[in-house]
Amino acid sequence: MTKHAELDTPESRLASIAWDFEEARTNTGPHRIHPYPARFIPQIPRSLIELFHPGDDSAVLDPFCGSGTTLVEASFHGIPAVGIDLHPLAILISRVKTTPLKRSIRSAAESVVRKARNRIADGKYTIPEIPRLDHWFQKDVQVALASLIQEIDRVSDEDLANAMKVALSSIIVRVSNQDSDTRYAAVEKDLSKETVFNGFERAVSITGEAVERPNGDLFTAPARVHLVHRDIMDVEPEEVGEDVGLVITSPPYPNAYEYWLYHKYRMYWLGMDPIAVRDSEIGARPHYFKKNHQTEHDFERQMGRCFWLLRRVMRKGAHACFVVGRSIIHGREIDNEALLERAASSHGFKKVGSIQRNIARKRKSFNLSHGTINREGIVVFALRHR
Ligand SMILES: C[S@@+](CC[C@H](N)C(=O)[O-])C[C@H]1O[C@@H](n2cnc3c(N)ncnc32)[C@H](O)[C@@H]1O
Repeated sequence: MTKHAELDTPESRLASIAWDFEEARTNTGPHRIHPYPARFIPQIPRSLIELFHPGDDSAVLDPFCGSGTTLVEASFHGIPAVGIDLHPLAILISRVKTTPLKRSIRSAAESVVRKARNRIADGKYTIPEIPRLDHWFQKDVQVALASLIQEIDRVSDEDLANAMKVALSSIIVRVSNQDSDTRYAAVEKDLSKETVFNGFERAVSITGEAVERPNGDLFTAPARVHLVHRDIMDVEPEEVGEDVGLVITSPPYPNAYEYWLYHKYRMYWLGMDPIAVRDSEIGARPHYFKKNHQTEHDFERQMGRCFWLLRRVMRKGAHACFVVGRSIIHGREIDNEALLERAASSHGFKKVGSIQRNIARKRKSFNLSHGTINREGIVVFALRHR
């Protein structure tokens, strides 16, 4: 890497960046099409790619890709990317963010809305069976969402249909009775079918601006993006399908964020199963509040399985960058970085650099129910030997 010839250690490369990015614009292009808890600000994977990708044709892997921030940034650099996540909505969002649309999503959506209105006029819609639906969604909203989903399901261009699903998903909390993305209380809201149709069309516009050709600068030379919708505990090396030159990820922390809960009703409306996600989600709170509950040792074992996989797919000399914060289990503060280091070490990795960064308050997209995480570490590992 000639660009960093003068910076010859991972530690000094890390030290060359001001990681807080306090004034940076973080919600631009594909990154703004859908909310996601604890997602990266794009500047983090972008800087890590610039510092640590070997500059050859090897891929960037994010084994907990969430909403695909790493994958989008790899694509911006023309680098192939692989994303793994257990969450079906995470995979859908990642797919949409990295798939250039060849046709106008706005005109396709206009037609979907027109047909959805006709469905309502003819009474030809089916409200899906969703737990506590009437508590969270007003009748008119249910009717509008159900008819839109039925029409989106009839769109034959899969890329367009996926992009419309993500646009619709992005407005679900807004058109529900839920107070906000981070407050799970039902409140009175003034909503109608038109709120849903107008919200959907606005969301489609934002999606179109981000991923329609020729607008997205992402798509001048689109790179390969491979998505694996699986529990990390079950992924086999062959499924990664690329030679990996760099890993960038932020793993789920024990007892901190709840990805299944945050997107529960979005998933129900899209025909996905949030309960299945909860059961396999690493770190989900229910695992820490039941009889024989999980402990931080389970987290170490789960991260160990991740490093087992990384060891088998990473190129010699490649780096793995983990962004990780602290969490609290039953009142005890857990040093996830130390657990991660132990898991890495037992699979032949050593820590070659780390840095702490402040998370800007205004950017936190999710209020933690307890504990405050306002600093996180970026830890860089390298394989000790093969
Ligand atoms: C911190 S988030 C990643 C956010 C991502 N960096 C972004 O920018 O959107 C962690 C992710 O780990 C995923 N996850 C949790 N348990 C998993 C498991 N067992 N297998 C695969 N992914 C899992 C969650 O669904 C979540 O998307």
